[in-house]
Amino acid sequence: MKTAPELDYTLHHLCIYDDKPRDNIWPYLRWHHGITNYFSGSVFHVTGEGHSDYTFLGCGGKAYQVQIEAPPFQFEYERNWWRDHGRGYNHICWLTSDARASMEQLLANGATEVMPFEEFPTYDGFVVHDPEGRWIEIMEYTDDTFRVQEFTNAPSGECGLQMVGNSEVCADVDAMKAWYQDVMGMRVLEEFKSNGYHEVVLTDKDYDADSRRSLFVLHSARHDFEKKHQAEHGPYISSIIYQAKNVDRAYDDAIWAGMKEIQKPAKDPCTGLVTAVLQEPCGGNMLTLTEPYAP
Ligand SMILES: [Fe+2]
Repeated sequence: MKTAPELDYTLHHLCIYDDKPRDNIWPYLRWHHGITNYFSGSVFHVTGEGHSDYTFLGCGGKAYQVQIEAPPFQFEYERNWWRDHGRGYNHICWLTSDARASMEQLLANGATEVMPFEEFPTYDGFVVHDPEGRWIEIMEYTDDTFRVQEFTNAPSGECGLQMVGNSEVCADVDAMKAWYQDVMGMRVLEEFKSNGYHEVVLTDKDYDADSRRSLFVLHSARHDFEKKHQAEHGPYISSIIYQAKNVDRAYDDAIWAGMKEIQKPAKDPCTGLVTAVLQEPCGGNMLTLTEPYAP
């Protein structure tokens, strides 16, 4: 069986389920984002079960982006998740050099199947639960030229905004930290603990502090809205992470764009970073914005 280093895992995207994707996109576009690809009908992810409606977008950071996915979803397992959870962050996707071997490796290490391995026209892939039930999608590109287009590392707007990754609320942060290191090849950049709160900042093998700061943050529920969401839905993907050269300006731009205020920019007592929390207006999903952070 192949090991995590041999499977070459790199962070790719965060998927958002939303039934009003056109409305949802506008606050992002007004907040310095760009669309890398729009896929619908039979151009991508062709199956017998239905059509796709995917918009990929991001902002100023190399590689990491989001995928907004709208109903009617293609597969029954997707429709079941939508019925149970509604709008929200649905899965994180990693690229691999060998999807079939990855399925074997993940299932042998505590993941459970959501969508069986399938060969699509442009990639091979599957979906599993991590040990706490969050969805992991794995893709291996198989076409010579097809790729979801990437951003270059170019902070956007005068505020220098970059989308760099996502965070997840865990039931057991230490167990998930070990699992994502041992099984998915992630490595720990930094760890914070204070007053019962625990946060671990991980990244993948392609991390570069200057040009590719893809972050994957595991943390315990801290805010009341996180504790409430975890009580209702279990451990979950909790926010998209942004960094900006000028956090105050990026925050003002976000409010102008239509994002809602949850927490104004202020120094976080745990991480020491100037941090703000925003909520996108359509799906109610959370966004974390910090000053540049490159451990
Ligand atoms: Fe996806």
